[in-house]
Amino acid sequence: MVQEFDKVGVVGLGAMGAGIAEVFARAGFTVTGVEIDSAAVDLGRDRVHASMDKAVHKGKLTEAERDSILGRIAFSTAREDLANADFVVEAVPESIEIKRDVFADLDRVCPPGTILATNTSSLSVTEIAALTGRPEKVVGLHFFNPAPVMKLVEVVGTVGTSPGTVGVTAEVAKRIGKTPVTVSDRAGFVANALLVPYINDAISVYERRIASREEIDTAITKAAGFPMGPLTLADLVGLDVCVAVMDVLWEEFRDPRYAATPLLRRMVSAGMLGRKSGQGFYDHS
Ligand code: CAA
Repeated sequence: MVQEFDKVGVVGLGAMGAGIAEVFARAGFTVTGVEIDSAAVDLGRDRVHASMDKAVHKGKLTEAERDSILGRIAFSTAREDLANADFVVEAVPESIEIKRDVFADLDRVCPPGTILATNTSSLSVTEIAALTGRPEKVVGLHFFNPAPVMKLVEVVGTVGTSPGTVGVTAEVAKRIGKTPVTVSDRAGFVANALLVPYINDAISVYERRIASREEIDTAITKAAGFPMGPLTLADLVGLDVCVAVMDVLWEEFRDPRYAATPLLRRMVSAGMLGRKSGQGFYDHS
């Protein structure tokens, strides 16, 4: 069954969705990327093109390979264009209201056999599945930032997801070159439940002025061999995303490790979201 899969939809072409569309197209899938309006489509297309151009520039891809990958991605503002999709990944903002709108349309437009996957990191996959009439076909497929690079994907099954859907999704993850781990629908799944309190602790160390941001990051990269320190990582992930994940962990477990530090919350309120806003713990402008 999996071998016949070739048409994939990606809804939302922000930093994560554009990377996800790229990953599927690189693996030979035909991809339709859908955004809310033409300006958002243009931004999404630019993200994918910039990433592909960088790969050509680095000699990782030929121009012909890039053109052939890009030729497999269609961009659209119409969710109806996903009527033939075998598998859809949703990567829209982390708002249950936005997801409700997207999943109602996907449920209406896509054939009953289409698997609907969500890239959510902070909402319950079970709650999202309940927005559809096909909870057995709804699964989490959680990518890590940057999606084209990070090997892990979490395949999240709910109490209502069929074992077949989880199995097919894990196979799809392997086909796009990722390493799937199958996890239950709990706040933070596995990776964020471990990563996010670590980031929060680092922000607390910074807030208490125990060390500068550079010293904190250097301590971890040099001590533990992580590719980036926790404050650089927070800026990459997005401080708003960090807070969203912490809040959902706090809500579910009421464990103080998950209570976002006041500084992190204030930075988000001030619009300092990390790389995507140009300013976070570091200046990215
Ligand atoms: N898109 C595509 N490719 C990218 C990229 C991007 N946004 N960023 C980096 N790359 C590629 C580079 O082109 C380069 O490719 P080649 O090796 O083929 O040349 C490779 O990644 C390494 O990049 P750089 O040499 O520029 O820099 P680096 O060695 O410092 O690596 C990094 C950058 C891959 C981001 C690395 O620092 C890293 O792995 N950091 C940790 C990231 C991490 O922990 N992510 C998880 C975040 S948690 C999350 O996402 C979950 C959530 O729900 C909140």
